[in-house]
Amino acid sequence: MCGIVGMIHAESVMTALVPALRRLEYRGYDSAGIALLDQNQLTRHRVLGVLDQLTGDMPKDWDAKTGMGHTRWATHGEPSVRNAHPHFSHRVAIVHNGIVDNFQTLKTDLLNKGYAFASDTDTEVIAHLIDLHMTQGHDPVSAFSVAIQQLEGNFAIACMISHWQDALLVARRGTPPLLVGKGPMGYSIASDALGLVDVSDHLAYLEGDSWAIVTQDSAKVYDFSGERKPLNWQKQMLHHQSCNQGDYAHFMRKEMDEQPDVIARLLSQPTPTLAQLYPDLNHVSLLGCGTSFYAAWIGKYVLEQRYGVTLELASEFSYRHAIMSPGVTLALSQSGETADTLKAVAYAKNQGQKLISLVNAPYSSLARCSDHVLDMQAGPEIGVASTKAFTAQLWLLFALAGITPDRAQHLPQSMRQALQLAPDIRRWATALADESNMLYLGRGVSYPVALEGALKMKELSYIHAEGLAAGELKHGSLALVDQTIPIIFLAPHDAIFDKTLGNIHEIIARKGRLHVITDQAGAEKMPAVGLTQCLILPDAPDPIFNPFIQTMALQLLAYYTALERGCSIDKPRNLAKSVTVE
Ligand code: AGP
Repeated sequence: MCGIVGMIHAESVMTALVPALRRLEYRGYDSAGIALLDQNQLTRHRVLGVLDQLTGDMPKDWDAKTGMGHTRWATHGEPSVRNAHPHFSHRVAIVHNGIVDNFQTLKTDLLNKGYAFASDTDTEVIAHLIDLHMTQGHDPVSAFSVAIQQLEGNFAIACMISHWQDALLVARRGTPPLLVGKGPMGYSIASDALGLVDVSDHLAYLEGDSWAIVTQDSAKVYDFSGERKPLNWQKQMLHHQSCNQGDYAHFMRKEMDEQPDVIARLLSQPTPTLAQLYPDLNHVSLLGCGTSFYAAWIGKYVLEQRYGVTLELASEFSYRHAIMSPGVTLALSQSGETADTLKAVAYAKNQGQKLISLVNAPYSSLARCSDHVLDMQAGPEIGVASTKAFTAQLWLLFALAGITPDRAQHLPQSMRQALQLAPDIRRWATALADESNMLYLGRGVSYPVALEGALKMKELSYIHAEGLAAGELKHGSLALVDQTIPIIFLAPHDAIFDKTLGNIHEIIARKGRLHVITDQAGAEKMPAVGLTQCLILPDAPDPIFNPFIQTMALQLLAYYTALERGCSIDKPRNLAKSVTVE
């Protein structure tokens, strides 16, 4: 989704602004731009495509100490230079994340008042609205604060005004995050803590429905009624090295390799169990989107040994008006900023739920509205495809369910061994790279693992991959099985292995292209003929941890298939890392 950075420094911001924007590239974008305020003049430079084009064409002699930049992920208006931010209206420059729900009404009114629009965006109305209020006699601060209160929807915006003072006016309503940072050079703002790495040693999140005047040496924050609000400063924990790709070709590959260490770190630290946090608890609701949802689904298998469990896709949940069983809601989100999840959580809290969040961003919006926060401590996850956050989420769920670290002592080692199967999995990927469709099958807890594997394949390689419960085959999907469609079958030697084997025979009988992922004991019982491929995973320390091991193989398969196909691995087309709009 879109990214915002802004700076007011003691020296030229040019050397810091573009690197800060680069750190937000991972969020996904289609166009980018910067605007500078220098000697009362606004200048801007915008491009369609990647930041390299922006820096390539940019005048080298800009020396402004105030500036802001934006990476745009199109919502209103196609990706193009004219729709790229910043948008201008006379003395006003605006960058914006989120959506102005009532932009059409505002636009009609502004057109009637003589404003000409240079873009198809909802954002441009904000610039004209502020300009309108200034022409009607408001000073810049009051024009800004009046204008933002006319906007409906969820948004984060930053604004510069010429012929006034070197300042950034920023505002946040609802979910899109906005942070202020302070450092030796001055103040900065960003929509993501990564945008403040290297320029800020302390940072503070703006609460929803608040705005601020940021200058080189201060940030004054107000709520929408005009009351002054404090900022809650935290030490900046992210450093340049933690966002570095190292010798890896892709962030995703690095992040996959980091997983055993992430799990080892979590195992070495106490995680509270649900029984400790809420001794009388009977019911747990699980919420998340995408990969976080699949982690929740896997967690359900361990949690439901002890609690009633309801699993909900956050993007579907809020609008169903469901009556929730009293208890605790566990909300899973790597970013902690997913709009669908935040919306669902607000609904759950309204229903009186206690909220525990599992996040990789302990100061995120989700964390800040939770009763308890479990930090995944996975380090920044830059690849759009979630990998290390997924396995970290799994462990936190297992720990909440009461699984003790001693049971998982050898898990990091088993995960490392699974990652060493990369050359074998790469051979599969080479053979599968030209496919258009794939099926991923699993039974029991391997079913949500298969769903997650299929999602990874889809988002990275753009191959249509569908996850199915193997036991459901004969209820319809078996009709798809023939000699052409590859089937990735998760078949661990677990308590339901015999059932799994039955499904494998169903496929063999129809000459299906079976790629089985199993373990040593499973391999020994596999049919001697009928498998196209068989991959033997290292044993998990306990079958309960099979999802961790299987996931290593499925991530590698998606990664290498995407690599073979020449796909953009860290930034798949059309996707964003942090989905801050519903
Ligand atoms: C994962 O590979 C996806 N890119 C996506 O499904 C992601 O997990 C989802 O958007 C939820 O994000 P969150 O964990 O930050 O809430």
